Amino acid sequence: MEQYKVEKSSVLLTNIFANRVDRMKSSDIRELLKLISADVISFTGGAPDPDAFPSPDDLRDAVEYILANRDKAFQYGITDGLPGLRKSLIDFMYRQISIKADLPNVLITIGSQEGLEIVGRLFINQGDKVAVGLPTYLAALQAFNLWRPKYIGIPVDDNGLNTVILEEMVRKHKNTKKPIKFVYVVPTGQNPTGTIMSLDRRKHLLEIASKYDLFIVEDDPYGFITFRDDIPPRIKALDEEDRVIYLSTFSKIFAPGIRLGWVVANETLIKQMSLAIQAINLCPPNFNQYMVKYFLDNRLIDRNIPRIREIYRVKRDAMLSAMDEYMPKEVTYHRPDAGFFVFAYLPDYIDAKKLLYFAIEKEKVAFVPGRSFYVDGSGYNTMRLSYSLPKPRVIVEGIKRLAKVIRNSLMR
Ligand SMILES: Cc1ncc(COP(=O)(O)O)c(C=O)c1O
Repeated sequence: MEQYKVEKSSVLLTNIFANRVDRMKSSDIRELLKLISADVISFTGGAPDPDAFPSPDDLRDAVEYILANRDKAFQYGITDGLPGLRKSLIDFMYRQISIKADLPNVLITIGSQEGLEIVGRLFINQGDKVAVGLPTYLAALQAFNLWRPKYIGIPVDDNGLNTVILEEMVRKHKNTKKPIKFVYVVPTGQNPTGTIMSLDRRKHLLEIASKYDLFIVEDDPYGFITFRDDIPPRIKALDEEDRVIYLSTFSKIFAPGIRLGWVVANETLIKQMSLAIQAINLCPPNFNQYMVKYFLDNRLIDRNIPRIREIYRVKRDAMLSAMDEYMPKEVTYHRPDAGFFVFAYLPDYIDAKKLLYFAIEKEKVAFVPGRSFYVDGSGYNTMRLSYSLPKPRVIVEGIKRLAKVIRNSLMR
C-alpha cells in the first residue's frame, strides 16, 4: 500500500486505507489510453453517440414539465425512486420487453453501475464464488472485486455464455465449502463480445439456477440496441422463480449524463438494496427522474429506440465491412447483433497491449486490449473495438489503420 503524504505539512500518514482498497486498481491500460490525443481515432470507450440523445425540443418540453413540478423535482426524494417514474417504467418494460413487475419490485439506481456495486455489497462474502463470462464486463468485476469473490470463468461463444460448461462448473463446486452463489451475465449485446445468448441457453441457465439454487444477475444495458428481429426474451421475462436480478439503464436509450438505471427483483431483495442505497446517496436525483418520466409518459423513448438502433446498426455495418475488407485473415471476430462492440482475436503470439502502444504511436488509432475482461488472466491476444461514438467514415479509416498495425506485427 502506498503511503499518503499530506502535501503542505509533509506529515506522513501510513495505513490509513482499509485493506480492501488494494482491490481498487487503476488498470495499466488506462495509463496507456492517456496517450490518446485529439488526432487519434478511438475505438476505446463505449460512449453513446450524441446523435442518439433526445432532441433539444423534447428536452425543452421536459424542462417545462420539471418546472411545473418544481417543489418536488428539486427536493430530496424516495430512496427507491419516484413512484410515478417507477410506474411509468413498469408500463414501459411490459410493452417493450414483456417483463412484469409491481412497484415493490422496482428500484431506481444511479446508472446500472450502482446496481452492480450494490450486488457486490449485498451478496459477496470473501471467497464466495461468482460465475462470469470469459470475457466479461470489466467494470462489473471492478464493482465486485472489493468484496473479494472467487471468480469462475465460463467461456462465451457466438451464442453467449456456454451453459453446458456452466453446469459442469456448478456441479464441480456444489459440494465444496463454497458452491457457486450467482451467475453474472450480459445476455443481449454482451460487453465485450457483442454476442446474444440463445433462447435455449437462457432457459438452461434458469434450469441450472433452479436445480442448484443459484441466482442470476442479468445486466442489460444493450438489450434495446439490437440489429435483428428474433431477439430472445429477457431472462427476467422467463423467470418464474424470482431468481433473476435484472439491471438496466437509461444510458443508452436516453443519455448516460442523466445517470439513471433500474433494478427489477424480488421484493425482499429490493428492500435490502434500497437500504444499501440509503447509506450511499439517500435517493436518486428527482430532477433527472422527472425528466425521464416525461419522456416515458409521452412515449418519446419508445419512439426514439428504432432511430437509435439505426444509428448503431450503420456503425456496426461500417466496422464489420471494413474489418472484412482490411483485416488480415489471421484476425477473427464476433459479428455483433446488438450493443456497441466488435471483439477480435489476434494470433496468439500477438500481445494486444503491446500492439496498442504501436497503434497509438504510429497509426493514431486506439482500442481496448481484451485481457482485463478475462478473470483467468487469458485474453492477452484479444481486443475490443467500440463503434458507438466515431462516425462511419472515421470507423473505416480507423480499421484501415489498425489493420496496418496488425499486418506489421504479423511480419515481426
Ligand atoms: C455491461 C454493462 N453494464 C453496466 C454498465 C453501466 O452503465 P450505466 O452505469 O451507465 O447504466 C455498462 C456501461 O457501459 C455496461 O457496458
